[in-house]
Amino acid sequence: MRTPIVAGNWKLYKTISEAVEFVSALRELAADVTGVEIVIAPPFTALSAVAKVLVGSNIRLAAQDVFREEKGAFTGEVSPVMLKDAGCGYVIIGHSERRGYFGETDASVNRKAKAAHIHGLKPILCVGEKLEDRNAGNTQSVVEAQVVKGISGFSEAEILSTAIAYEPVWAIGTGITARSDQAQEVHGFIRSLLSRIYSTDSAKQVRLQYGGSVNAANTAELMAQMDVDGVLVGGASLEVESFVNIVKAAHG
Ligand code: PGA
Repeated sequence: MRTPIVAGNWKLYKTISEAVEFVSALRELAADVTGVEIVIAPPFTALSAVAKVLVGSNIRLAAQDVFREEKGAFTGEVSPVMLKDAGCGYVIIGHSERRGYFGETDASVNRKAKAAHIHGLKPILCVGEKLEDRNAGNTQSVVEAQVVKGISGFSEAEILSTAIAYEPVWAIGTGITARSDQAQEVHGFIRSLLSRIYSTDSAKQVRLQYGGSVNAANTAELMAQMDVDGVLVGGASLEVESFVNIVKAAHG
C-alpha cells in the first residue's frame, strides 16, 4: 500500500549543466520504472532547469531546504512558493547537515514543514541520532523528540503527505550503513509513534525512508524490512548508473 520512494540528495554538488545532463540520462534510463517514486534534490540554482527536463517524466523534483515564510525581507532565503514555482513537489527538511552546520532546530524544522504543507510541497522530514546518542542507549528518545516536535500540529492529511527519513548521523557519508535490523527497529518505533499520535490506519500509510551510506548493494536488504519504504541517498545518487541501480533495487 506504500509506494516506495527513492530520493537522491545531491547536497552541494552539480552545476546547472551537470544537473541537466544527469537528469536527461536518468529520464531515459528510468523511463520504464513503475511502482517506485523517484525524486531528485539538486541545489537551488539547478531546480528550474532540471524541472524543464523532467516535464512529463516519472521523476519528481525536491529542494534541499526551504524557508518558513512565503515572502519578505529575508535575504538569502528561498520560500515554498518559489520552490513550487520552480517545479518542486517535495522538499527535504531538517537534514542532519542543516541541523549540525546551520543551527536548524526541531522548532525551525516544524515551521518549515508547516509552510511546505500550506503551499502544497511534501516534506521529507529527516531525523536521526548521533553516535553518542546510540552508544548511550538514547536512540529512541532522540528520534522520538525529533519526530514529535517536527510534526507538531500536522493534520491527518499533512502527516499522510509527509515522508519521514530516518538517517542515523553516524551512517551519513561514512560508508557505515545501519544494519537492516537496526533500521527496521527505528522505523518500527517511528510507525508506532505515529499510530499513537494519529491512528494505526494513518500510520500505516506514512512512508519511512532510510538514509545513510545507501548504495545499490545494500538497498534491497534495507527495503525488504517491513517498515522501510524507501531510501534517501547522498553520495551514491551523484552518478546516474549508481542511482538507477538503487531505484531498480528498491523496486525489487
Ligand atoms: P550518504 O548521505 O548517502 O552520502 O550517506 C545520505 C544523506 O545525507 O541523505
